[in-house]
Amino acid sequence: MENFVFNAYTEMYFGKGQIKNLPKILEAYGKKVLMVYGGGSIKKNGIYDTAKELLKDFQIFELGGVEPNPRIETVRKGVEICKNENIDVVLAIGGGSTIDCSKVIAGGAFYDGDSWDIVKDGGLIGEVLPIVTVLTLAATGSEMNGNAVISNMALNEKLGTGSRRFIPKASVCDPEYTYGLPAIQTAAGTADIMSHIFESYFKKEEGAYVQDKFAEGLLKTCIKYCPIALKEPDNYEARANLMWASSMALNGLLGSGKPGAWSCHPIEHELSAFYDITHGVGLAIVTPRWMRYILSEKTVDKFVDFGKNVWGFENNNDKYKLANMAIDALEEFFKSCGIPMTLSEIGIGSEYIEEMAAKAVKNGALEYAYVPLDKEDVKKILTDCL
Ligand code: NZQ
Ligand code: ZN
Repeated sequence: MENFVFNAYTEMYFGKGQIKNLPKILEAYGKKVLMVYGGGSIKKNGIYDTAKELLKDFQIFELGGVEPNPRIETVRKGVEICKNENIDVVLAIGGGSTIDCSKVIAGGAFYDGDSWDIVKDGGLIGEVLPIVTVLTLAATGSEMNGNAVISNMALNEKLGTGSRRFIPKASVCDPEYTYGLPAIQTAAGTADIMSHIFESYFKKEEGAYVQDKFAEGLLKTCIKYCPIALKEPDNYEARANLMWASSMALNGLLGSGKPGAWSCHPIEHELSAFYDITHGVGLAIVTPRWMRYILSEKTVDKFVDFGKNVWGFENNNDKYKLANMAIDALEEFFKSCGIPMTLSEIGIGSEYIEEMAAKAVKNGALEYAYVPLDKEDVKKILTDCL
């Protein structure tokens, strides 16, 4: 296990009705609040009205309309409000897109230049306004980490940035808020959680047993509860377990002590940058193909662990058979959750594969991945996804 510093300092207000704590949480940071939200789901499900009522003693400025795959243009609008109105704290209500957008707004508020700079280079992030979130979708873990992913569609760029200062001060996580999610968002969110787990699980460092046992437990949680949430959208137990899994999957618990670049995320980010697709859907399509591509004498034992400890397959004498069974089971699982499992089903052809592969290798530093990948490798994986 490599050395690490672990400090997941977000105060998590988890459970039914926890939004009642919002005034107390925000009070610590000031009265001028920029409330950021997406395309309108919080108005339909009543969270908007609840928040406005609770915060009637605060001065609320609003930025709605944050896109899935949030755009730099929207960040710029938020930064302008922060600078003009001397905002004290940014309140994000929504999924990962809204939270990510809010983080870069909070950093842009103190940055003396265009906010795209701090997306391209996280090292430029200085002071950051305090960030508080109300989570409405179990997926990204953004509610408890310092990452943000922003798109610049004019350049076909979707880039991740981050800073410890982006870690939210507090997050309200009420599983009931996810009851009304469209089924595909529940499924895609789960695929995203699972992908975050895989990105840490499949790493060169092999001595991080604790992290891997956490990872296997979280994968089993997703496999158990996503089908229940899809069948019974208001099953509290299922929603609560998925929501807590989303936060645990990407708050440092699994990745600490396991350095190296990620594999599937950089590839998916290019699909989103070129075709504006749902992040979790892209990951579900790429992941089994990536797994089959990297299966070799060097990696097979890890896939055997995955098959035995996550899917409960019996050990047999054929390691490759077991590894392939595990990968097939994952693909079948995503399919059974209603996720389209080929790029052609979501309108993606081969036209940009060359360009996407080159960018994934560069933006994702894929030479440092679990199994290093070059442009030709990524092209083959993407072609397999068609
Ligand atoms: O915009 P609204 O109207 O709110 O609708 C959203 C959106 O259409 C809807 N939704 C969210 N909560 C809902 C709801 N609809 C009904 N009821 C609710 N309770 O769901 C749609 C998707 O929302 P979005 O926020 O885009 O989804 P998600 O949480 O999956 O976030 C995806 C973004 O996060 C980035 C992704 O790349 C993508 O841009 N990621 C962020 C990470 C991070 N910060 O650590 C890591 C991830 O790997 C990921 O890259
Ligand atoms: Zn993700």
